[in-house]
Amino acid sequence: MASERPKLDMERAKNAAQNIIGDVASMVHGAMSFIGDRLGIFKAMAGAGPLTIEALAAKTGLAPRYIREWLNAMTAGQYVEYDPEAKTYLLTPEYAAALADDDSPFFVGSYFQMAQAAVSVAPKVAEAFRNGKGVTQAEYPASFFEAAERNSLTRYKHKLLRKWIAAVPHVVEALNAGGAAADVGCGGGRAAIMIAQAFPKTRVTGFDIHAESVERARRNAAAAGVADRVTFAVANGSELPESRFDLVTTFDVVHDAIDPVGLMRGVRRALKPGGSYLVQEVNVSDDVKDNIRTLGKMIYSVSTLYCMTTSLSHGGAGIGAAMGEAKTRELAEAAGFKQFARLPIKDDFAVLYELRP
Ligand SMILES: C[S@@+](CC[C@H](N)C(=O)[O-])C[C@H]1O[C@@H](n2cnc3c(N)ncnc32)[C@H](O)[C@@H]1O
Repeated sequence: MASERPKLDMERAKNAAQNIIGDVASMVHGAMSFIGDRLGIFKAMAGAGPLTIEALAAKTGLAPRYIREWLNAMTAGQYVEYDPEAKTYLLTPEYAAALADDDSPFFVGSYFQMAQAAVSVAPKVAEAFRNGKGVTQAEYPASFFEAAERNSLTRYKHKLLRKWIAAVPHVVEALNAGGAAADVGCGGGRAAIMIAQAFPKTRVTGFDIHAESVERARRNAAAAGVADRVTFAVANGSELPESRFDLVTTFDVVHDAIDPVGLMRGVRRALKPGGSYLVQEVNVSDDVKDNIRTLGKMIYSVSTLYCMTTSLSHGGAGIGAAMGEAKTRELAEAAGFKQFARLPIKDDFAVLYELRP
C-alpha cells in the first residue's frame, strides 16, 4: 500500500516553496549577473545616469533585444531602478560600487564568476557524492582560479596591510627592517605582491601546489614591477625551507589542505625564532547551528563545490571551509605551535589568528 502523504501546515508549506523558488531565482539571476560582469554591462552603467535600452546597447555594442531582457531581470532583482515614464534604467551608486568598481571596499561582483565556475563542476561533485572521492584542482576551469584571485584582490586592497598585518606590530617592525616573508597557498600572488610593495626591504616568496596559479602569480609580479623581490614556487607548505621567515601567512588555505597539520608543521619549522604565522580563515563557526545565515549558506556550498572536495580528491582531511576556531586551535597544537591568539579584527567575513612556536 502506498504511504500516505503527511498532513502539511499550509502556511509553512507555502513558505518552504517560496524560499526554494527564491533560491532558484537567485541562481538564474546570478547567471544574468555573471553575464553583466563578463560583458562589462555593469561597468557601462556605472556613473552613466539613467539609460534607455538603446543607449546601453550602443554603449556596450551588445544586441538591444538581449539588453532589454537583461535590464528587466536586473530591475526585477532590484539591482537596477526603472523609470516607467522615461523608460530608463539606473544603476545606483551603491549597486555600482558593489558590481562595477573593483576598487570599492563593497565590490562583490567577481563572486558571480566564481559561482558560475564552481557550479559548472557540480556534475563531477555529484559523482564524488557517490564514490566518496573528490574532484582534483585540474578538473576546474581556469576561470575559477581567476575569480578567486579577483575576490581576494578586493579584500587584500582594503584589509591586508591596514587591518591584518597592522594587527601584529612586531611583524610590521621586522618587515620594515628588511625581513623575509612567505605566503603559502598564494594563488595568484596578490597578497605576496602587496607585502613586497609595502615593505621594500623585505623579500617575499609565494608557494602554491597549483602550478597554473604560480604561473599567474609570476605574471602578476612582473606586471606590478616587483618580480625582483617576490618569487613564486610550486611547493607544498609542508616542505618549506627551515628557519627562513619572519612572517608566514596562509589566506583561506588551511581548510583546503590535504594535510593541514603537515602544512602547519611545515610553517612552524619555516619560521625564524621570534617569527609569526598569520592564519586567515572564514568567519564562520564549526557548528552549523551558528551558521544559519547567508554566509553559512554560501560557505558550505562553496566548500562542497571546491574546498572539501579538492582535499578529498587526494585522500585528504577534507575539513571544509566552516573550520571554526576550535578546529584551527586543535590543528595548531598538533603542529607544535605553543601560542595561539585570535586577533581583534572586526570583519564579517574573515578571522585572523596569530600562531607562534
Ligand atoms: C582558496 S585558495 C586561496 C588562494 C589565495 N591565498 C587567496 O586568498 O586568493 C587556496 C590555495 O591554497 C593552495 N594550497 C592548498 N594546500 C596547499 C599546500 N599544502 N601547500 C601550498 N599550497 C596549498 C591551493 O592550491 C590554492 O591556491
